[in-house]
Amino acid sequence: MARRKIIIDTDPGQDDAFALLFALGAPEELEVLGVTTVGGNVPLARTTTNALQLTELAGRADVPVFAGCPRPMLKRLQTAEYVHGESGIDGCVLPQPSRPAAGEHAVNWMIRTIMEAPEGEITVCTLGPMTNLGMAMVMEPKIIPRLREVVLMGGGYFQGGNATPAAEFTIRVDPHAAREAFESRALVTMASIDCTWTAMMTPEWVQSLRALKSASAEALIGMAEFYMSYGSHKFETADRPIHDACVPGYLLVPEAFSYRQCNVVLETRSPETEGMTVVDWWHSTGRPKNCKVLGKVDAPRFFDRMYRAFATLP
Ligand code: BDR
Ligand code: CA
Repeated sequence: MARRKIIIDTDPGQDDAFALLFALGAPEELEVLGVTTVGGNVPLARTTTNALQLTELAGRADVPVFAGCPRPMLKRLQTAEYVHGESGIDGCVLPQPSRPAAGEHAVNWMIRTIMEAPEGEITVCTLGPMTNLGMAMVMEPKIIPRLREVVLMGGGYFQGGNATPAAEFTIRVDPHAAREAFESRALVTMASIDCTWTAMMTPEWVQSLRALKSASAEALIGMAEFYMSYGSHKFETADRPIHDACVPGYLLVPEAFSYRQCNVVLETRSPETEGMTVVDWWHSTGRPKNCKVLGKVDAPRFFDRMYRAFATLP
């Protein structure tokens, strides 16, 4: 079967790191054309260095990394060091990158790559604020019908948000960019926090990675321990959602995810609910269903596939 060609747009983030290594650990199914970075969990300079270090860790310095937008379309950047630490991927020591980021801007590279590829070939996976993709859609709308799919981590439906009562972090940071994607008519698939909270990573599963005895596993364990230490004041469990990893999880084991086609509208104006993904679960508006809203994850299958991907890494 042909490998699925993907662009990973990311703001690492420990859960982004899990997602990236998950995708890179499945080379027989996913071809990662490049990694594009965005300001999000931490500023752009950090997310770019992190992406370079993580690809290096995975033994994949051949995958180019392109730095993208340092801030959202219209807002100031809101970061999340309080969750991820100063570096964004606190908890591990990673190899220094052997190469710099590529010279081309991530948005230009994204546009060029999608325009040059056959129609319907490229999937863009966004794991952070959707600024780069939103900008690319504004700069060159001809990319939209050429996309195979946009798969994003972000938003919420029953649960509302994690950054505010109404909004999930990545969408709240750049709701205007997210709106571009949701209104684009591209095939959009959303792994919201309602989905990711059904794929809970347990401390026991994290420790099971020790058996892999690899540098990647050691780094993943360190990152997980740091990441899972956040939230003990409010979550009633030691388990944590490993949000972004649901994106490659969906690409690799789609049958492990339930879903519903819905209309989703982005709230961009209200200060209380800005960044909310307004999901018409019951189709009460009659508006076109523009989003595949992922639901419950078969967690054992998901974690088993992720484990097997990590087992291939150095
Ligand atoms: C999302 O926000 C970021 O902090 C994580 O990396 C993830 O992409 C979860 O709300
Ligand atoms: Ca992220």
